[in-house]
Amino acid sequence: MKGIILAGGSGSRLHPITLAVSKQLMPVYNKPMIYYPISTLMYAGIREILIITTPTDAPLFKQLLGDGTALGCQFSYAVQEAPNGLAEAFIIGESFIGNSDVALILGDNIFYGSGLSALLQNAKNPKGGTIFAYPVQDPQSYGVVTFDHQQKALSIEEKPLNPSSNFAVPGIYFYDASVVNIAKSIQPSQRGELEITDVNTAYLKQGKLNVQKLDTGIAWLDTGTFESLRHAAQFVEVIETRQGLSVGAIELAAYEMGYISKDAFIALAKPLEKSGYGKNLLRNLQ
Ligand code: G1P
Repeated sequence: MKGIILAGGSGSRLHPITLAVSKQLMPVYNKPMIYYPISTLMYAGIREILIITTPTDAPLFKQLLGDGTALGCQFSYAVQEAPNGLAEAFIIGESFIGNSDVALILGDNIFYGSGLSALLQNAKNPKGGTIFAYPVQDPQSYGVVTFDHQQKALSIEEKPLNPSSNFAVPGIYFYDASVVNIAKSIQPSQRGELEITDVNTAYLKQGKLNVQKLDTGIAWLDTGTFESLRHAAQFVEVIETRQGLSVGAIELAAYEMGYISKDAFIALAKPLEKSGYGKNLLRNLQ
């Protein structure tokens, strides 16, 4: 299975801090935001990853992440010319996807919790699509799922004014290769975007959408506003300082998933010791 990280967008809810630099390069505590979704895909067992950015930010992402070899992965890059919606990622990524299943994760979504890796690995090879649902206090900011009495998804609505449930759809999605044609068949919404919710609705209508409730023991954070960015940083800081272990570290994901050797992991950590990040990485070995 292949993975796509969508790190485009204008970050307008974080202006002026994202006027000159992409949101997904902003720090979330001690690492760039994009480390979190990359590590999430890596823990899902996905090593071939397409990173979609804005045209202006592409060189910075390449400088930060390179071609992925050091992490036992393969990173490639593409650009989204304008914020035309999440579903455009599958059109941009058509040749990358080919006949493979594909996971999409949003560059500003953070997932953390016990059992997450297994849960994501189980979502691989979907016969159609697999998405998740997670209870939140402000469902009107998200795609919202309604379930029937048997916990079967009935509908998904994008940012409804009067949400019919408090179950939001987090920004990680698993699809079969037919997602490319589905993305090509949908029309832009009123806000002028190809909506991921319309892709999900298309799978739902075909009877091929599996909507799985995420255990509330798993944290799902998004980082699109000043407040949610600060909350995410605080969350990571609290866990890392309490446990002394790393959250969202791509070097650790590579080592724990067996993509790189212990020696290669140590060689990645050593030059980062001065900031404390490398020390934290090495503490995971004890
Ligand atoms: C997007 C999707 C929405 C999803 C959310 C998750 O929202 O459109 O369905 O619930 O990501 O973060 P947006 O980033 O456009 O606000």
